[in-house]
Amino acid sequence: MSKEKLLYLQTFGCQMNVSDSEKIAGLLQGIGYRPTNDSSQADLIILNTCSVRARAEEKVYNHLVQYKGLKRKKPGVLLGVGGCVAQQEGERLLCTLPHLDFVFGTHNLHLLPELVLSAEKGERLAEVSFIDNEKRLDLFPADTANTGVSRFVTVTQGCDNFCSYCIVPYVRGREISRRSAEIIEEISLLAAKGVKEVTLLGQNVNSYGLKNSGEMDFVTLLRKVCEVSGIERLRFTTSHPKDFSLQLIDCFAELPKLCKHVHLPAQAGSNAVLSAMNRGYTREAYLSLVRRLKEVSPGIQITGDIIVGFPGETEANFQETLSLLEEVRYTDVFSFIYSKRPETRAASYQDHVDAEEKQARLDRLLALQRKITLENNRSFVGTVQEVLVEGESRRGGQLYGRISGNRIVNLAADPALVGQMVRVAITTAYQNSLQGELCS
Ligand code: SAH
Ligand code: SF4
Ligand code: F3S
Repeated sequence: MSKEKLLYLQTFGCQMNVSDSEKIAGLLQGIGYRPTNDSSQADLIILNTCSVRARAEEKVYNHLVQYKGLKRKKPGVLLGVGGCVAQQEGERLLCTLPHLDFVFGTHNLHLLPELVLSAEKGERLAEVSFIDNEKRLDLFPADTANTGVSRFVTVTQGCDNFCSYCIVPYVRGREISRRSAEIIEEISLLAAKGVKEVTLLGQNVNSYGLKNSGEMDFVTLLRKVCEVSGIERLRFTTSHPKDFSLQLIDCFAELPKLCKHVHLPAQAGSNAVLSAMNRGYTREAYLSLVRRLKEVSPGIQITGDIIVGFPGETEANFQETLSLLEEVRYTDVFSFIYSKRPETRAASYQDHVDAEEKQARLDRLLALQRKITLENNRSFVGTVQEVLVEGESRRGGQLYGRISGNRIVNLAADPALVGQMVRVAITTAYQNSLQGELCS
């Protein structure tokens, strides 16, 4: 047998890329590559990239430049780029980076073993064409080799929403819903391996099944997943507010396994900006959705994403974003400065907000949200929460897990409890986590 080769795989961006990387590692295992954490030992280096903001893309180029030195010292090492930057740039990457060996797009993971074998023979290739939906459906199955307590399960890929700032529809292609029978099969397999919690994953899971004729809708899928024995908790992400149906809201009352947390990106608080972003809902509709969720599921935790400094955003518009934060009282918010992305509609908009002002707005937003987050965390102190213990925390002697509302809890307890649901009395609230004690 030939000698085992080592793969160093670096993943950037969202959970979609993390799942793709698992699949990449599995596929390359088939041609003799074993993962390593040490790039200097690797025979093959692959960067699975993100291009959602310019900064994410720059990071990739910085890494690629660093590997130039490594390749000079060790010319036999192969270097490949996949993911969203690869999809965006395609063959151009091979032209601008002579030390790069191959490029593969977001629809081409299945071609990777062939690409690597060609690269081993000295060929430099780029495979970035989108493939048709039938073929995509067949390529869905994930790599389930490594499990754990909690797993993401992909239910949709791509996005058809074309928010005016966003590159995802261009680099991931059209939205497609995975076959429900395969989703249930994968979750049953995971449950048999000891997985207790699954998070259904897609750019906009709420529109699951609406575009495949004959497929069930998202609410029916949730009900089916709840029937899988062994799965104790169910989550989903990301939700697009425009597709959040009343039936889906009711699921939070009807399905005990469905966790009390929704990631519901608003992106902005003013109707003028929401409309320019092509989000498809108003501030009022968003707030009414949040209100209903809180009525149906008291104590539900809402998290969100916000973009500041969108082209044309005025101080008054921005203040509406701040007041949205106060009204929703988010558990936490991921906030970003607007970044101009190639091909997107907003790239042609006049951007009057200068960089300093954008940073100042982000700082104001962060300060407000930090305060709300801490106040909200403190509201758990003195309560008893069901916690699914996920692992041993980096802080010595502690375990960590999450409450139904998705806040992290640390507690001192026996590692044998990993994978179990336990009752925890919350004693202290920090900015990013809670501290608790095991109830006897
Ligand atoms: N499908 C998800 C997530 C998409 S990307 C959704 O619809 O919410 C994750 C987040 O990155 C987005 O929610 C948005 O807040 C942010 N984002 C996307 N494009 C961006 C851009 N051009 N500039 C700044 N932030 C951006
Ligand atoms: Fe991007 Fe909008 Fe699609 Fe989310 S819903 S991936 S923000 S285009
Ligand atoms: Fe980034 Fe692509 Fe995800 S652009 S956020 S890795 S879909």
